[in-house]
Amino acid sequence: MIKKLMHKYALSEQGAKDMVKACFFCALTNICLMMPSGVLYMLIKDLLEDNLSRDRLGIYLIASAVILALIAFTNYLQYNATFLSTYRESGVRRTALAEKLRKLPLSYFGKKNIADLTTNIMGDCASIETASSHWIPELIGALISTSLVGISLFFFFDWRMALASFWVIPIAFLIVLSCSGAEKRAIRKNTAIKMDMADGIQECLESIRDLRANNAEGKYMDGLENKIRKVEKMALFTELKMAVYVNSAAIILKLGIGTTALVGGALFADGSISILTFFMFLMLVSRLYDPMQITLQNFAAIISIGIQSERLDEVLSHKIQTGTDHLSNTGYDITFDHVGFQYSDDTTVLKDVSFTAKQGEVTALIGPSGGGKTTISRLAARFWDPTEGKITLGGTDISGIDPETLLQKYSIVFQDVTLFNNSVLENIRIGKAGATDDEVKEAARLANCEEFVSLLPEGYNTRIGENGSELSGGERQRISIARAFLKDAPIILLDEATASLDAENETVIQEALSRLIRNKTVMIIAHRMRTIANADHIVVLKDGVVAEEGTPSELMGKDSLYRHMTEQQMLSQNWKME
Ligand SMILES: Nc1ncnc2c1ncn2[C@@H]1O[C@H](COP(=O)(O)OP(=O)(O)OP(=O)(O)O)[C@@H](O)[C@H]1O
Ligand SMILES: [Mg+2]
Repeated sequence: MIKKLMHKYALSEQGAKDMVKACFFCALTNICLMMPSGVLYMLIKDLLEDNLSRDRLGIYLIASAVILALIAFTNYLQYNATFLSTYRESGVRRTALAEKLRKLPLSYFGKKNIADLTTNIMGDCASIETASSHWIPELIGALISTSLVGISLFFFFDWRMALASFWVIPIAFLIVLSCSGAEKRAIRKNTAIKMDMADGIQECLESIRDLRANNAEGKYMDGLENKIRKVEKMALFTELKMAVYVNSAAIILKLGIGTTALVGGALFADGSISILTFFMFLMLVSRLYDPMQITLQNFAAIISIGIQSERLDEVLSHKIQTGTDHLSNTGYDITFDHVGFQYSDDTTVLKDVSFTAKQGEVTALIGPSGGGKTTISRLAARFWDPTEGKITLGGTDISGIDPETLLQKYSIVFQDVTLFNNSVLENIRIGKAGATDDEVKEAARLANCEEFVSLLPEGYNTRIGENGSELSGGERQRISIARAFLKDAPIILLDEATASLDAENETVIQEALSRLIRNKTVMIIAHRMRTIANADHIVVLKDGVVAEEGTPSELMGKDSLYRHMTEQQMLSQNWKME
């Protein structure tokens, strides 16, 4: 049962055990809350039978005091078991989710959009939190206590009256249950539409600059408004549908008062039950149905929570990239051995790619845009695993190495630089946690950051805006290069690392790079032939296959794509506007 609960509500083992405990204490509290009615019943019975002695009154008073203390105590237990453990569990769930996201392969993020994941972490966790702290324990607790009361009334008082009062409860639950399929479908649809809207808003905020530049703001906003209206309509429709089911169930519940009165009246008239029993059942139904109505709403809400749990469970149980954290490579040669790769099932990005990037050499990947260069650098760092063939590092298949351990050996400068809204110093320090300020500044100096940092209002301590929005493209790139300098790992992957730099900056950085890369494995991707002119080995990629391979002079000596690209760039450099 614990395993089932863990799976159904995305709980940890402790969380599932706590939930069982919470349900038990809720039932206990409910039973204690019914005890005063029992005392009242006995008291009235004694009064009617003229049996109320001083001693008995004393007993009732003591019993009332004990019951009160019991209610306070069970309430305390219930509070501990539901709220405290729920919030503890919520913390555990969010941490587990964050930990999982850290370990998920990048292919997972390619399939999911950020809005979806944000909703997962914030929204779904919050819903499950409410369900665990309120809905589920209260529902199960109410069901247990109501069943116990129903059974005892059936056997110890009058089975006909018990049936007349309780028949409505299973029917009401069945009505709500019968709509669970429709409810789940509506919520799935609702979530998809909401996700689409959240995605639209995020995309709009991210691309507002381009939308303005292309005068496309108005048209885009109309589309976004449509998405928002759709969410509004769907939410109203879903609410209405649910209200019909839950209110029908609530009306059925109220019918119970009628049947209790009718059956009780008839039985009292023919002398089968006493006025006291009749009175007790009437008191019971008037007290029972209101909380039952809330329980029905909880029940409907729990059905809907299934969708959120499924989504969380999908993240939590997604396969992660694993491997040993003990490296057994000899040297740092990276070899692609008949590697094939697809991002999705329908398009092949790399086909039978084989080459070696040797340690102590600079291997340049060049070729037309979309040829698969960036993909190769991602595979080399195990951001994705190849679909076919294998990649080895110093003879060891990297698919057997833990990604975090592997990445300790890589300094990477990506084509699209990511910076954080923090100081320049901290943005560079990401390259090596725990690096001293002096080490960070030395890396910054090597990457030629000093000149622009000295112009910032607070120098190295200036915050650079979200994703470095307050810096130019070249400045952002230099911060990213400084990170790589600081990390100083044995393998260096540079994807268009100097593409946004002017010739002067590029020359300075290349000089620094040439000092950094000594005896390391360097894979460099560049469109500018000038950048890779001194490479030891060139791999030309075209349409996902290795079209040519060799040293620059070998390739220049024949009618190669490399020679053609170099000549083309010379021509374009000499091109003048007429
Ligand atoms: N995350 C992704 N999901 C799906 N397809 C992708 C993804 N990234 C790249 N692709 C596709 O893979 C192919 C190769 O892309 P890649 O980025 O490796 O090319 P590239 O040689 O680096 O190009 P460029 O010189 O323009 O940077 C392209 O057709 C691209 O559309
Ligand atoms: Mg690329």
